[in-house]
Amino acid sequence: MTARLAVALLPLLLVATVAAGPRLLPALVAAPNADGMAVTLSAGGGVTADHPFFRGFGETGRACSTCHAPADGWSLVPASVQHRFEATDGLDPLFRPHDAAVSPRADVTTLEARRRAYALVLTRGLIRVGLAIPARAEFELAGVDDPYEFASAAELSLFRRPLPVTNLKFLTSVMWDGRESGAGRTIVRDLLAQAAGAANAHGQGAALGDEQRRAIIDFERVLFTAQSHDRRVGALDAERAAGGPRALVDQPFQFAINSLMDQTGTPPTRRVFTLFDAWTSSPDETRRAVASGQTLFNERAFGARRVTCSGCHNAPNAGSNSTGAFFEGVAGEAQRPAALPLYTLRCVRGSLEGQTLRTTDPGWGLVTGRCADVGKFKVPTLRGLAGRPPYFHNGSAATLDDVVDSYDRRFAIGLSPAERGDLVAFLRAL
Ligand code: HEC
Ligand code: HEC
Repeated sequence: MTARLAVALLPLLLVATVAAGPRLLPALVAAPNADGMAVTLSAGGGVTADHPFFRGFGETGRACSTCHAPADGWSLVPASVQHRFEATDGLDPLFRPHDAAVSPRADVTTLEARRRAYALVLTRGLIRVGLAIPARAEFELAGVDDPYEFASAAELSLFRRPLPVTNLKFLTSVMWDGRESGAGRTIVRDLLAQAAGAANAHGQGAALGDEQRRAIIDFERVLFTAQSHDRRVGALDAERAAGGPRALVDQPFQFAINSLMDQTGTPPTRRVFTLFDAWTSSPDETRRAVASGQTLFNERAFGARRVTCSGCHNAPNAGSNSTGAFFEGVAGEAQRPAALPLYTLRCVRGSLEGQTLRTTDPGWGLVTGRCADVGKFKVPTLRGLAGRPPYFHNGSAATLDDVVDSYDRRFAIGLSPAERGDLVAFLRAL
């Protein structure tokens, strides 16, 4: 098993060195995607395929890289999941019923049954996260519409995308719902706890030793991924632009970096992304489009509260939220993809008492137990997007065009076709 994995990964672990400022960094992965090429640099040196991150744990034969695949932007891309399915008749270690099937009770005895059981990971790269409604929650489960007849208050089936295990320097909360982020704990402590939890949950009880966990964290924390080449635009660091992974390695970041007023009372900058400033007056039309998409992202205000994309995605040149704030995501009833279970929650305590909420995923609400937090998610980092479709926690946006459409509809932004194209060109270049 481990041998097969190693062979599959080896061509990717081409340890070339790339000049990054004064340092030489190994380019760990150069992964082609539909829009060009994404490159991952490691600030910690190269690794071999028998590193604990790539080594199978427990009886499932799973490794971290089973779901955080270097060539899939350290997540899972449906096209390569389908490839893995066809190559192994659906028997690759990824395909295990406890968390990759639509229900842990799904029939996986024949090839056709497996195709049905693994439909959500095959089409959207979704993994089933089973979480209970906490005992002291302000809400109760009043109804479940689960097409797969499994979910209950004791275990909701929540279908979520693996978050990329790269660019972790810019993380302020761990997991879509922040459930691995302890109050007052550092991100490193969170990640150590997360690694143990991941091996246990995805490896069905597998335990990782302290040394293995340390090695995994030390590996993850120094990875930097960005799109480095766009097939329309060319090299993303050409003409003095700062796209690509090299500049990302040295991008300053600290908790609340862009949220606190400075001593003169100057508010945080809205110009969160500055990567493509130099292209504002480029002779190349495709580069000007990327620069104008960046301006729209930073400055275009919309909705009743006049928010900007950069208002929530406020970590400079990374796009996560610098204070770890949670915001409403795309889990509402109106946005429900038919293939996902829908939960009806009744608020029995607290400020929303008496209200009924319908959601495909309560998100942060399951962590805090508060009705007001139902349907909220963390703000994901926005680098290397082109290499890891689909988007949002539930993979409901197949492409970056769909992401922009989704925002345009939800907030009635009123983007013109040209503005829409520029915003997409910018997101593709991240
Ligand atoms: C079966 C697939 C699968 C396997 C195997 C797996 N993960 Fe994950 N990982 C996920 C999913 C799905 C999420 C998002 C879950 C959520 O937010 O509820 C995730 C989230 C994460 C995150 C959070 C990143 C962030 O931005 O918050 C880290 C870190 C992580 N995984 C590390 C690991 C490590 C380390 C291993 C190996 C010990 C591992 N994963 C194994 C599917 C997997
Ligand atoms: C109110 C805060 C907020 C604003 C404003 C906002 N976002 Fe987001 N963004 C989020 C949250 C929260 C998520 C995760 C939602 C989910 O998965 O349900 C997200 C997810 C995304 C993703 C998906 C990333 C991934 O890894 O799947 C992209 C791309 C994105 N936003 C781009 C934008 C763009 C472009 C705009 C402006 C048009 C914007 N965002 C405005 C909070 C915000």
